[in-house]
Amino acid sequence: MEYLNRPLTVRGMELATRLVMPPMATGGCDEAGRVTQNLRAYYDDKTRGGYLGLVITEHSFVSPEGMAGPRQMSVASDEDIPGLWQLVETIHRNGCRVVAQINHAGRAARPQQAGLVPVGPAEAAFSADRPGRVLTGADIAQIVRRFADAARRVVAAGFDGVEIHSAHGYLLNQFYSPLTNTRTDEYGGPVENRVRIHLEILRAVREAIGPEKALLLRLGAVDHVPGGNTLEDAVAAAKLLEAAGLDLLDVSGGMTGFTVKGREEMQGYFTPETARLKEELTIPVLVTGGVTDPLAAEAILRAGQADLVGVGRALLKDSRWAEKAMTGKA
Ligand SMILES: Cc1cc2nc3c(=O)[nH]c(=O)nc-3n(C[C@H](O)[C@H](O)[C@H](O)COP(=O)(O)O)c2cc1C
Repeated sequence: MEYLNRPLTVRGMELATRLVMPPMATGGCDEAGRVTQNLRAYYDDKTRGGYLGLVITEHSFVSPEGMAGPRQMSVASDEDIPGLWQLVETIHRNGCRVVAQINHAGRAARPQQAGLVPVGPAEAAFSADRPGRVLTGADIAQIVRRFADAARRVVAAGFDGVEIHSAHGYLLNQFYSPLTNTRTDEYGGPVENRVRIHLEILRAVREAIGPEKALLLRLGAVDHVPGGNTLEDAVAAAKLLEAAGLDLLDVSGGMTGFTVKGREEMQGYFTPETARLKEELTIPVLVTGGVTDPLAAEAILRAGQADLVGVGRALLKDSRWAEKAMTGKA
């Protein structure tokens, strides 16, 4: 596995291999969103042997009204830091780098139990059976601060970097997608405006994490729905993100989630989009989706279609997948 075994440095983060465990929600935290011993054992099991270059931990909520579901990981309070620190230590001990994915679920949040209302970029994000509140300019500024505060906690907990979640229909994806963002102010309209909040968050997060830590963003690049984002939108957005200081682009799906209908059987089903984005960017790109065969991952890298390959469900099913892949025993 010549290409999978090649190291890569992303800003200050030295990755031993090109294999990535992508973020996968476990619902394994306690009621307050704190890391449990069982969750540490799970990540220990997945990373043993150090075959994964990078682990991106499951999405964690930056504020209570952005919580996606019960027992989701929290990064909304300073009290989360000690548990996160122990989690990082577990993964580092196994020789892997680790980045925290931070998220606000927006209209997809379920904060009603806490007496809060889901929020979104525009009325178009809501429906009668999915009500919510449209964010004002002041609310947006507060959400930018929430991401920056969360990123500061991530660094305090010892992570090697931060990933901003803007895929799978969550809040930042709702801003990016014309299907849910029909705002008429500077945060809506052309793609430059639809990623304005992303650029503000990127700058605020960089300020919070300093110059050494890696800053990643998972982009729900294309919606694959009529009227949704196209590959040209993704190229324009990615160039703006790169210019604003992004270190690595993690490519995934938009309003159709982490899969695309009709491509489920394809190894690396976001490779067409990722390869195009790689051509347009100088920062490394990560592709995830459908890879179960290590030879397919190796072929994607060899063909120069991506710099890193994520393997999720295959690793969920078999914790020794990475070991078998990297040692040729798969
Ligand atoms: C159980 C489960 C939980 C997931 N949770 C997240 C998440 O928290 N954040 C995220 O960006 N993607 C999440 N995903 C998507 C994965 O990161 C990945 O993109 C997807 O599983 C496709 O890759 P695969 O075919 O290798 O599994 C999740 C996927 C699964 C199966």
